[in-house]
Amino acid sequence: MSSPSNQLDRHSLPAHVAIIMDGNGRWAQNRGMIRLLGHKSGVKTVKKIVTAASELGIKVLTLYAFSTENWKRPEQEVSGLMSLLKSYLENELSTMLDNNIKLRCMGRKKQLPEEVQHVLNSSINKTANNTGLVLNLALSYGGRSEITRAARNLAKMCAAGTLHPDEITEDLLEENLYSAGLPDPDLLIRTGGEYRLSNFLLWQASYAELYITETNWPDFTQEDFHRALTIYQERQRRFGKTGDQLKK
Ligand code: FPP
Repeated sequence: MSSPSNQLDRHSLPAHVAIIMDGNGRWAQNRGMIRLLGHKSGVKTVKKIVTAASELGIKVLTLYAFSTENWKRPEQEVSGLMSLLKSYLENELSTMLDNNIKLRCMGRKKQLPEEVQHVLNSSINKTANNTGLVLNLALSYGGRSEITRAARNLAKMCAAGTLHPDEITEDLLEENLYSAGLPDPDLLIRTGGEYRLSNFLLWQASYAELYITETNWPDFTQEDFHRALTIYQERQRRFGKTGDQLKK
């Protein structure tokens, strides 16, 4: 049997892949380990999938690393995740520079601990001129909060008289999202087997193809990633049109 990588058409890859990296906690608990060790193992998967996406020439990879709701988790888990994030950013800068990866982030950056903000800003600046994969980390991110923030920005412009409400278009709202300038995700992968969006990319994922796997994030391999991409390539994206219209 041929492997998923053999079946992959490298000329019609999604420009933007977004991933909900779920199942770290269950992966650890199934092994009698504390949840944080699941996240630690999840960081190894992050490295593998970033490498795979970069090697394939995918333009944007967005990873849901910490949601606005994740602040409600036990303090120990939150601080553990923050220190994993900090060490990931410190350790991976040289790999990002070597592989032409440009780091970006989306979310309420100011809510992150100062030392995380510092290393994040520093890596974003140092990789700003890279032209390969855009690695977009969703940190303290929530889709509703992002859309509310964009609406607030536009309302302020209207109140200041620099914008008329009739001039508000989808494109203008989009320019006020954290993701301004990025293409919408074509493929949204969720590991860990839950069938929901969990407040992730609510605006941007309107026409994303969804791929959900039971595999928990720490067990997700480059081969699983290639399989998701192959399945994406078998889908017909109609964007509201009929199948017949697409054949013309
Ligand atoms: C969801 O699993 C995962 C998270 C809330 C955090 C994801 C973070 C990482 C993979 C590591 C840090 C990220 C980077 C980019 C270095 P869960 O804990 O909700 O799992 P469960 O549903 O099994 O409890």
